[in-house]
Amino acid sequence: MNEKLSIIREEALAAVKAASSTAELNDIRVRVLGKKGELTAILRSMGSLAPEDRPKVGQMVNEARAEIESAVEARTAALAAQERDARLKAEALDVTIPGKKRPLGKLHPLTQTYYEMRDIFVGMGFTVAEGPEVEYDKYNFTMLNIPKDHPARDMQDTFYVNDDIVLRTHTSPVQVRTMLSQKPPIRIISPGRVYRSDDVDATHSPIFNQIEGLVIDKGVTMADLRGVLDVFAKELYGEHTKTRLRPSYFPFTEPSAEVDLSCMACGGKGCRICKGSGWIEILGSGMVNPKVLEMCGIDPEVYSGFAFGIGIDRVCNAKFGISDIRLLYENDLRFLSQF
Ligand code: PHE
Repeated sequence: MNEKLSIIREEALAAVKAASSTAELNDIRVRVLGKKGELTAILRSMGSLAPEDRPKVGQMVNEARAEIESAVEARTAALAAQERDARLKAEALDVTIPGKKRPLGKLHPLTQTYYEMRDIFVGMGFTVAEGPEVEYDKYNFTMLNIPKDHPARDMQDTFYVNDDIVLRTHTSPVQVRTMLSQKPPIRIISPGRVYRSDDVDATHSPIFNQIEGLVIDKGVTMADLRGVLDVFAKELYGEHTKTRLRPSYFPFTEPSAEVDLSCMACGGKGCRICKGSGWIEILGSGMVNPKVLEMCGIDPEVYSGFAFGIGIDRVCNAKFGISDIRLLYENDLRFLSQF
């Protein structure tokens, strides 16, 4: 019995010493000291001993238990401290390491230009109207006084989806949609992407962006058109900016005019941006053709109006000194990050 006890004791103490985790120590505790443990088994078997030996054995078992218990406790405390140290080390945060720089996005120069133009018109009381880029032929052409087989269709090289549906060649169809759904007075701008099957070069792209404007009310005249565009030009390019109207032709306006702004890059002297002319052609305009008003259910005897269409790309390029429209659509970050 004596020998058995000392083997259990030695083995238990050795196991405690070798234990490398608190979980392992717990297993040892259960195996040796637990209800079904080795020491408990000895206490249980004391009945088979001679009565005079019992107190002595009992005392020895209790001493062994106390010794093993305190060894387990000491080892548990040491291991817990070790485990905590390891965890703290693993979770350590070096607050002195410099932060990571995240690259900051920017608005595309076209978007910047559009926002600036939009804000000028909104400041004059216009609201923004939008419409689909895939549009009915009827809204893109017919109701703008360009019936099928009209030669004016050749002015705009059109991507046809089918006989009745096109990729809009201008945002004028939004004006038609607005006139059909709203009563005058109307004062809107319609911005967006438009499509034409042009050959691509430095000044032509099959996709480009427009802002068209439409004002309809009683007594609107060409002087109002001129005034609005003058204010727009001065707010956009500065007080000294001049506007010039040249007679032109659009089926949906009568009379029609193209409007040039004095070149903001050179102030009108002539440079690379204005190709030496001192003027930048940025928009078409005119008084809304009475036929268009009629087709859209507005009485031309009561109401009149003007419309204009500005190329955002041209304005953008003049603003930033960009000489090739293709750069706006290539999405080269080395180019875009400059603006
Ligand atoms: N819709 C014409 C175009 O894209 C521009 C324009 C709009 C001209 C309004 C006159 C009046 O070419």
